[in-house]
Amino acid sequence: MDGTLSIRPFAEADRGPVKALWLGCGLVVPYNDPDADIDLAAGRENSDILLGILPDGRVAATAMVGHDGHRGWLYYVAVDPAYRDTGFGRIMVRAGEDWLRARSIRKAQLLIRETNTAVRAFYERIGWSESPRTVMERWL
Ligand SMILES: CC(C)(COP(=O)(O)OP(=O)(O)OC[C@H]1O[C@@H](n2cnc3c(N)ncnc32)[C@H](O)[C@@H]1OP(=O)(O)O)[C@@H](O)C(=O)NCCC(=O)NCCS
Repeated sequence: MDGTLSIRPFAEADRGPVKALWLGCGLVVPYNDPDADIDLAAGRENSDILLGILPDGRVAATAMVGHDGHRGWLYYVAVDPAYRDTGFGRIMVRAGEDWLRARSIRKAQLLIRETNTAVRAFYERIGWSESPRTVMERWL
């Protein structure tokens, strides 16, 4: 299926399908409002939401990408369950990496929730490794 997915940035008409995809992939949690996340990230100079589009125009996959001037980050890497294991996840991560590379960002990072143990093997399979860092946080 690899050749059947095209990449384009989020447009407003995609909001409903994108939120439905995130919900269906278990990526929507009470402490993150997907609408607010879309509003803050889509189409910005330092961030965007990349969509994987099927030939019929439907959204099958997403990757939110952004950088802070130093590191790049991926969020909301998601593939419609109906299209898993066909290479779409890899395509979306590569698209995010390319987006960052094009902006001279040298390292990409992402966070895996502690409850999402299955996904770790996916990232390792496509060339990522665990970062030997401790991530600190504070809600603002
Ligand atoms: C994680 C996810 C994006 C993977 O998408 P996908 O389209 O199924 O992945 P791909 O088909 O591109 O897989 C690439 C490779 O990783 C392997 N792989 C995929 N998921 C895997 C898993 N859970 N465990 C081990 N290997 C996995 C594939 O078999 C493939 O291997 P290959 O190179 O031998 O062919 C998808 O399962 C998903 O949307 N999960 C729910 C949302 C999520 O957890 N996102 C990540 C948040 S951090």
